[in-house]
Amino acid sequence: MPGRFTDRILRAPVAFTFRDLILLPGLAEVEPGEVDVSTRVSVHHRLNIPFVSSPMDTVTEAEMAIALARQGGLGVLHRNCSIEEEVEMAKRVKRAESFVIRDVVTVRPDQTVGEAISIMREHDISGLPVVDHDGRLVGIVTARDVRFADPGLRVSDVMTGSDHLVKVEEGITIEEAKKILQEHRIEKLPVVDEGGRLKGLITVKDIMLRDKFPNAVRDEEGRLLCAAAISPFDLERALKLDKYVDILVVDVAHFHNRNCMEATKKIMAEVGADVVVGNIGTYQATVDVITGLEDVAGLRAGIGSGSICVTMELLKAGSPTLFATAQVADALAEYGALGHIPIIADGGVRSPGDAALALALGASCVMMGNVFAGCKEAPGEVVAIGGRYFKRYRGMASPSARARRHAVDRYFSKRIAEGVEGLVPYRGDVASVVAEFVEGLKAAMGYAGAKNIRELWEKARVAMLTEVGVKEAGPHSILLPSQEPLRSW
Ligand code: XMP
Repeated sequence: MPGRFTDRILRAPVAFTFRDLILLPGLAEVEPGEVDVSTRVSVHHRLNIPFVSSPMDTVTEAEMAIALARQGGLGVLHRNCSIEEEVEMAKRVKRAESFVIRDVVTVRPDQTVGEAISIMREHDISGLPVVDHDGRLVGIVTARDVRFADPGLRVSDVMTGSDHLVKVEEGITIEEAKKILQEHRIEKLPVVDEGGRLKGLITVKDIMLRDKFPNAVRDEEGRLLCAAAISPFDLERALKLDKYVDILVVDVAHFHNRNCMEATKKIMAEVGADVVVGNIGTYQATVDVITGLEDVAGLRAGIGSGSICVTMELLKAGSPTLFATAQVADALAEYGALGHIPIIADGGVRSPGDAALALALGASCVMMGNVFAGCKEAPGEVVAIGGRYFKRYRGMASPSARARRHAVDRYFSKRIAEGVEGLVPYRGDVASVVAEFVEGLKAAMGYAGAKNIRELWEKARVAMLTEVGVKEAGPHSILLPSQEPLRSW
């Protein structure tokens, strides 16, 4: 007779994973090109594509975060570095573009031309508003004004002075700014208050970047959206990053932990950014998190599916990303919060179809480490081996990542390495990888007959494959001329 322990086995749910499931085709009333893949990544922030990069030190630093935000997705800056280094990355993302630059680099009229030139060089900019001791705008000096000027002259001798200065007041629209820049054939437009004090700067370069990346996700100031990982136990890091980022991601391997939740509560009380937490993998974890942390702005779902992860193998603990996503979605639906608190499905996503499955099971976006680690914008150099190109990729619990010591509190064990490191195929730039994923996702949603992610939640039906079916799902009964052993879809 089975007792409670045998029963535990007999009642075990199937913790299905990406390779187990397929999306069943449904009646399509729109063509894949018309499918809308825009989504929500946290309670207050939307993305134009449902792709987020992992906070890992071989995946997301400023360059990746800038590239992904420009494509409409989001990069989460890693925390395996000092607070100052992470803040600097966040600043770089925020400085990459803006409609009105707020931390304007300026010069005083009594400084020398030589000094103005070195300020321009140091900041890699081509012009400086000139302000007096009270912060009032008195002129503008550009690279053209100083190119052949005597470096000993004063800035006031070569600048365009207030008589000829074109300036605007706060509240100007992009279209109005474009018109003024064009009319006066100028590159920079200072913004002042009623007292004539400098409040910001609009540049042609920034306006052109807006046209170049129409899908980019930006804040109200026109700066790229930015997210950063934090530890629940590092209030100082959270507070310092909060000044720059839109979203803070509490980044631990097992968030359903009383200490993590208590500590996060304290952080949430002090920061203004949306706070996304994770990772979690069960219905109960979701209930405890959303009832214990009222303002939680997003949930990262999936434990142990990551391509560099050995947690499930080594510790026999985890919740595969698809199963975790469905569990979290069920709990959110039960509490009327599905769609309000977004789920970020995290770990094991290798193809656009994997992303479609995660979205079909209630996710709002997917997080990828492996896929983005192979991109040009990920940290680290391209490695050539036998005529093929790779980039290095490592788990945050791998021995070498842990040696940097900044993110060791992500895991319980101080001794056990729950991650590995290795090489992933080089994939080119983020823009091409994203384009491929977006097209694939739209095609998958087209098969499922869904014209947007919400409709996918409603309409999607999935089926489970047998082990034999999984084999049949790939190419078979054919000799392939060149096989890429590391590319598995
Ligand atoms: P992919 O499959 O995209 O997964 O490479 C990335 C996700 O894996 C998680 N992660 C780890 N999990 N040990 C783990 O158990 C690790 O060392 C490790 N490093 C990262 C993380 O959730 C990431 O987004």
